[in-house]
Amino acid sequence: MNMREKVTVPAIRARKGGPKITMVTAYDYPGAVIADRAGIDIVLVGDSAANVVHGMATTLEFGMDEVLMHSRAVKRADALALLVVDMPWLSFHISQEDTVRNAGRIVQEGGAEAVKIEGGRKRLPMIERILDAEIPVMGHLGLTPQSVHTMGGFKVQGKMVDAAEEMIHDAKLLADSGCFSIVLEGVPDLLGELITKEIDVPTIGIGAGPSTDGQVLVFHDVLGLGSGRYPKFVRSYASLADDAVAALERYVADVTSGDFPGDDESYHLSEEIAAELLKGRKSGQ
Ligand code: KIV
Repeated sequence: MNMREKVTVPAIRARKGGPKITMVTAYDYPGAVIADRAGIDIVLVGDSAANVVHGMATTLEFGMDEVLMHSRAVKRADALALLVVDMPWLSFHISQEDTVRNAGRIVQEGGAEAVKIEGGRKRLPMIERILDAEIPVMGHLGLTPQSVHTMGGFKVQGKMVDAAEEMIHDAKLLADSGCFSIVLEGVPDLLGELITKEIDVPTIGIGAGPSTDGQVLVFHDVLGLGSGRYPKFVRSYASLADDAVAALERYVADVTSGDFPGDDESYHLSEEIAAELLKGRKSGQ
């Protein structure tokens, strides 16, 4: 019997310093069903779909239409996991009205239970407006992929004292503004630990060391569904891409040899109808 309950924003907020929070991305219905069956706490419709699903080089090409399409597919899984959806680049930068409208669409049309926003103090006015509309916000600091050009590439952030202190300050500002949790991506383990200790909302790390309140990984990375070249912080628990190639190779072999489909995999007429149909026909015609 499944004794799990629906995971809510207050339940995640209350996990600060408690049992570690598990989060994984999902971009479609089967992915969300699989994540939920595994007992994951939070499913994130990440804009990393741009990379791992659509083969784009950056997340900057990803917009509201794409995020909403993926979010609706994930929502249909009706998961117990909390459903958090990324706000794509430019959906929360232009004006506060635009930002609230976009966050609202992600909830109303995409079924999100919270949105995630990349960035620190510069994004606070937008975050406050979204929170004001009763939409929970998850922050995201460190290696924020939507800032790839500003960062000069996908590089570990907060490696110098000034940058680390700034990130700690940003984390405090986000937590004080009302974000219910903060993703820390691509930061040294000590910085992950300090931020986790110095703010009172859960931190969820990806390449941020073992001290954060939870961990998040990208679905395709954790299952080995990608190219095989994963960042240092990834642990793959399966090799599904290799398994899929091997399975399809067997399918190709069975089709070309004539072994597939077999008798059990074919539909049959009744003997009388078959006889009637074949009457007067030469065999093989
Ligand atoms: O888009 C994404 O997948 C993310 C996670 C890496 C946190 O933002």
